[in-house]
Amino acid sequence: MKIVLQHLTKKFPARGPVRGRKNREDVIAVNDFDFEIPDGKLIGLLGPSGCGKSTALNLICGLLKPTDGKIFFGEDDVTGLPPENRGVGMVFQNYALY
Ligand SMILES: Nc1ncnc2c1ncn2[C@@H]1O[C@H](COP(=O)(O)OP(=O)(O)O)[C@@H](O)[C@H]1O
Ligand SMILES: [Mg+2]
Repeated sequence: MKIVLQHLTKKFPARGPVRGRKNREDVIAVNDFDFEIPDGKLIGLLGPSGCGKSTALNLICGLLKPTDGKIFFGEDDVTGLPPENRGVGMVFQNYALY
């Protein structure tokens, strides 16, 4: 099953005030990302820290809702589906075992 990302965009609201900085701007974590993962391919997203890799994965699995754009699994638009209805697995970079 291919995965298609169309104009995928995620903005986070500016965090609280930081000393010496008054007008904080929204963070555009994923900016108009168009991408297709073909069926059966193993894909790596490479890039510097903070470039939006984790945010893109969280959008694909449904843990975050995009500000703009769409996500398709095969021909199905899953953009509005919650993670439990997407049929995907996710292994987190940071985890805790209690
Ligand atoms: N929950 C959040 N609130 C505000 N900014 C965030 C949040 N999550 C990520 N960001 C910001 O979005 C950008 C992309 O982060 P991230 O997707 O974690 O990058 P990567 O996984 O490539 O290191 C960074 O500037 C990060 O600080
Ligand atoms: Mg990351």
